[in-house]
Amino acid sequence: METLRWEKGILYLLDQTVLPFTETYLTCTTWQDVHKAISVLAVRGAPAIGVAAAYGVVLGARSILEKPGDKPFITALQDICTNLDGARPTAVNLHWALEQMMACAKAHGGESPTAIVHVLEDKAKAIHADDVAINTAMAGWGADEIGKGDRPLTLLTHCNAGALATAGVGTALGVISELHRRGQVKMVYADETRPLLQGARLTAFELMAGGVPVTLITDNMAAWTMKEKSVDAIIVGADRIAANGDTANKIGTYGLSLMAKVLGIPLYIAAPLSTFDRSLAGGSQIPIEERSHDEVRSFRGAATALSDTPVYNPAFDVTPHENIRAIVTEKGIISHPDTEAVQTFFDKHSL
Ligand code: MRU
Repeated sequence: METLRWEKGILYLLDQTVLPFTETYLTCTTWQDVHKAISVLAVRGAPAIGVAAAYGVVLGARSILEKPGDKPFITALQDICTNLDGARPTAVNLHWALEQMMACAKAHGGESPTAIVHVLEDKAKAIHADDVAINTAMAGWGADEIGKGDRPLTLLTHCNAGALATAGVGTALGVISELHRRGQVKMVYADETRPLLQGARLTAFELMAGGVPVTLITDNMAAWTMKEKSVDAIIVGADRIAANGDTANKIGTYGLSLMAKVLGIPLYIAAPLSTFDRSLAGGSQIPIEERSHDEVRSFRGAATALSDTPVYNPAFDVTPHENIRAIVTEKGIISHPDTEAVQTFFDKHSL
């Protein structure tokens, strides 16, 4: 089962809104199809959104080629990128991938639109392939770091940071799967992740399919589970990491970090370097996506509250860097992240 597939100029996206009960692919032939799929979370998870958007740019470029308007090619393409960028505001991998695509288009700006479409397709394929390799590298680093002890671990994760959230094995779940491969996982507790249940629908499904021992809990069971089941570590993904290591991830992660601190449980973040936004000094500057109130008042069309119930629905929260034991990246580990540790890491790897 592939999260996304590019075949003969068409992007196929596994529709995650209907998983785990139905496995069906959306066919995207226009950049607007991709925009919609990202907005409704048919494709979700920061790295997967970035890869999908890159292919969205190829579809956009092709549409300009087929129907040129008044604007120069590059200007029209920039408009499409700006539009795609608005599909989800917190996951910076989206913005990162669009910037990569625009930089590529501009670098070939002197060539014909047909030639630019070709190089953009190659670029999107490269972003896709890189994500696969990055995930594998991250899984190795993370398993080395977290699996240092000699007994199998009890882990807890939130939302879905697995293969379904990336083009490869996943970020947090990639690390967990590698630990499992090494015989170092006793149990993974998966938060169901209200309101859209990525943990119940996607993470539990993905870990079960991979033969990793998993137990589903509701979000409000996390503190008690950590205490009663002696959770050794929490590992989650990220949507945007500021220069000081403050990390935006699925709503509920901040709460987990507070509980973990009290209980003395380390919290690990697994994220590719493309999830860092070092233009932001701290987490308070990270834009937090707010989603439709109906996501909280109902689930799949079935009401769970009165339709006029006032709602607050932030999709992400920010975990302060003080609450994070380490960030696992494809180039290694940033322990006890803060501005200096992040800067030193990027300097060391000449990034
Ligand atoms: O709203 P979602 O499902 O896109 O949120 C996803 C998450 O918060 C993930 O933890 C994050 O994107 C990391 S994905 C490898």
